[in-house]
Amino acid sequence: MKQALITGTSSGLGQALAAQLLTSGWRVFGCSRRSAGLDGLQERAADLARLGSIAPMLDDLLDGVDRLELVVLNAGILGEIRDMSDTPLDAARQVMDINVWANKVIMDWLHGAGITIRQIVMISSGASVLGNRGWSGYALSKATLNMLARLYSHEFATTHISALAPGIIDTAMMHTLCEADGAMFPAVERLRQARGTQAMPDAAGAAQRVIEVLSLLRERPSGSFVDLREILDPAGYAALYGSAASPPLSTR
Ligand SMILES: NC(=O)c1ccc[n+]([C@@H]2O[C@H](COP(=O)([O-])OP(=O)(O)OC[C@H]3O[C@@H](n4cnc5c(N)ncnc54)[C@H](OP(=O)(O)O)[C@@H]3O)[C@@H](O)[C@H]2O)c1
Repeated sequence: MKQALITGTSSGLGQALAAQLLTSGWRVFGCSRRSAGLDGLQERAADLARLGSIAPMLDDLLDGVDRLELVVLNAGILGEIRDMSDTPLDAARQVMDINVWANKVIMDWLHGAGITIRQIVMISSGASVLGNRGWSGYALSKATLNMLARLYSHEFATTHISALAPGIIDTAMMHTLCEADGAMFPAVERLRQARGTQAMPDAAGAAQRVIEVLSLLRERPSGSFVDLREILDPAGYAALYGSAASPPLSTR
C-alpha cells in the first residue's frame, strides 16, 4: 500500500489531497490543529508554530513507517495583506515560522529518520516570484521555501523534491485574501474576479491537478520551483507572469 504524509489536512488543498489519496487506497498520515474528519486518515493534532513539538509528533505519527511515496508540506498561513512597511516584524516572523521553519524541522526529521521517500512536494505559491503589493510576509516566506527545496535537494540523494505553486484555489485562505483592500492592492481585485471561474478551482479540483502533475514534477531537476499553471495552462501562465515568466528559481 502506498503511503503519504501531508501537513495541513484539516481544510483546503491538504484535506482534498488526503481525501483523494485515501479514496485511491493510499495510507495517509496527516496533521493540523483541527481534525480533517476523514475516515481512514491517521492524524495528529499539531500546532506547527510550536516548532519544538514537531519532532515528537512525527516520532509518534510515523512510528514504524519505513517508506513514503509522497510527502506534501502543505500547511501554511497567509498573514495579513498589507504593505511591507506596515508589517510588524513579529507578524512576518509568525508567517515564516509556519511556512518555512516548521518545514525545515520536518525536513530535518525526515532526513534523519531512515525512511525511504520517493517524492517531497513543498506547496509554494506564485506569490514567491510575483512580488505583488501587499503580499509582504507571505511572499517572503514562499520565496524562502523555494530556496529551501533547492538547498535540501543536495542532501536528499534518493528523494525528488519540488516547490510547487498550485495556482489559485477557492479555499478558506482565498476567502481571507478576497476580504483585503482591492483598491490598495490590485492583485486582490484580480483574485475576486477569478473567483467562481475555471481559473480558480475548488480544493478538490486543485488536488486532482496536483496529483496529476506529480510524475511530471519528477522529470524536472530535484529542487526546482514549478508553477502548476506552467504545465497545465502555458498561455495563462505567460499572461500571469509576464516578464517574470522565466523566474530565476524556476529551473536549475
Ligand atoms: N488558496 C490558494 O489560492 C493558494 C495559492 C497558492 C498557494 N497556496 C498554498 O496552499 C497551501 C494550503 O492552503 P489552502 O488554500 O488550502 O488554505 P487553508 O484552507 O487555510 O488550509 C491551510 C491548512 O494549513 C493548516 N495550518 C495552518 N496553520 C497551522 C499551524 N499553526 N499548525 C498546523 N497546521 C496549520 C490548517 O490547519 P489548522 O488551521 O487546523 O491548523 C489547514 O489545514 C498553503 O501552503 C498555501 O500557502 C494556496
